[in-house]
Amino acid sequence: MQQAAPNSAHLFVIFGVTGDLAERKLLPAFYHVTHREGCEGMSYLLGVGRRDWSDDEFRRRAKQTLTSSGLGPGELSSWCDEQVFFHGIDDYRSQESFVELRSRINQIEHDCALPQNRIYYLALPPEAFPAAVTALGENGLAHSAGYTRLVIEKPFGKDLETARRLDQVIHRYFGEDQVYRIDHYLGKTTVQNMLVFRFANGMFEPLWNRDRISRVELTVGEDLGVGTRGGYYDTAGALRDMVQNHILQLISLVAMEPPTAFEAESIRSEKVKVVRSITALRDEDVVLGQYGAGEINGQPVTGYLEEPKVAAESQTETYAALRLHVDTWRWHGIPFYVRTGKRLPRRTTKIAIVFREAPLPLFRAFQVRPPANVLVISIQPDEGFDLFFEVKTPDRSFRLDTKRLTFRYQDHFGRIPEAYETLIADVVGGDQTLFVHTEEVEASWRLLTPLLQHKPPVSEYRAGSWGPDEIYTLLPDWVDYCLAEPTQAAQRGKTVPGRENDRIT
Ligand code: BG6
Repeated sequence: MQQAAPNSAHLFVIFGVTGDLAERKLLPAFYHVTHREGCEGMSYLLGVGRRDWSDDEFRRRAKQTLTSSGLGPGELSSWCDEQVFFHGIDDYRSQESFVELRSRINQIEHDCALPQNRIYYLALPPEAFPAAVTALGENGLAHSAGYTRLVIEKPFGKDLETARRLDQVIHRYFGEDQVYRIDHYLGKTTVQNMLVFRFANGMFEPLWNRDRISRVELTVGEDLGVGTRGGYYDTAGALRDMVQNHILQLISLVAMEPPTAFEAESIRSEKVKVVRSITALRDEDVVLGQYGAGEINGQPVTGYLEEPKVAAESQTETYAALRLHVDTWRWHGIPFYVRTGKRLPRRTTKIAIVFREAPLPLFRAFQVRPPANVLVISIQPDEGFDLFFEVKTPDRSFRLDTKRLTFRYQDHFGRIPEAYETLIADVVGGDQTLFVHTEEVEASWRLLTPLLQHKPPVSEYRAGSWGPDEIYTLLPDWVDYCLAEPTQAAQRGKTVPGRENDRIT
């Protein structure tokens, strides 16, 4: 691992700095990271983009972006004016452009007396990755007197073949210890907390297996549609956009064995074993959907086919539900149900661990059958977890009621850092633990590529619903997450699906 003190001076080069990702996420995150105590003055930023801007023009825009993300103008001025630069590039495929870029980098390092620590962040469309990496390598920019790191954003390829080709290009010039593949879910505090929850609390691990757990459910719902990203999304779909990366990462963290140490190599090797152990996906384990028109939060919304830049007859899935089997000693026979989609009723990422029911029907005489205990881990937005358990109600009749133990980050801690802040801090510090290794990329594409080549038919679902009706053939009683969210007035008094005796209070 290329470890370096986080506070050694460096040049952070963002390719595609004029794009949406850089503006919304990278610039504010970079600013926060590089202004932490002890790191002031160490970070220089060179934005690279296909615009004819001067340094001053870019500084003015960067100030605007950062001010609108909540920073006071006073804090920004000196950093922006002294440590932020812009370099216009004609084409990421042109060698001449990179010759000029190299001179610019050398010049800045010379003028600012920097020790040639360089980080290249490719915030570019995926089809530009191979050309940009090649141009960096061919122009002697892959190595320097200090450290050189390459950061790339998902998607890492479109299938096994293209992912391998991209990797070959990267490894022609960069060693794996220089490469930081970003899956931003790994930067979320609650995702990292999965390891702490499981391995720092001795009480859960003995329960975390096929003897005590009957199934695992994972829901990654978004209320938004594809918005302005129709052009990209229509060539990707939910399997490539969410399942191959974020969802398989979450499943790996739930299902992995304890690593031998809390370090990148050990954690990665356990995670990759999980993905390799998932059995081949059969058609009957997959439901795909595409949203039609509907209503979200009382507002009408259009269907996917009406979104800008989406092909008129598109068969791209905006929804995927899967039944997976992680065929390891620990999980053999236990289904992992996954559903993810756009235009669902709300934005929510939750993992439900459904335990086995109590073995003896002790309460039969009172006509009470206690439901299974459920642990719901809330990745976002209400970060924390809920453990549902049974209690006797205090009245004289013998009745059980489902109650929960709840933990919410916001009740105990201040601001949770943005995923990108955590990840950028780790790139600067040279820690690869939260980044995706080439072996993980390959294992996940190996699993999904056969499905992508022979996709089952895509059914329509109404925007604002939880997906096509076919998902109930996979699993009739998905855990109802309204239980783990602040109860909305409209849901009060309704029966909990699958638990006819329980009403939501
Ligand atoms: C991105 C996907 O990786 O993750 C998007 O490309 C998706 O389609 C987004 O909307 C979801 O991220 P988050 O952090 O909002 O759950």
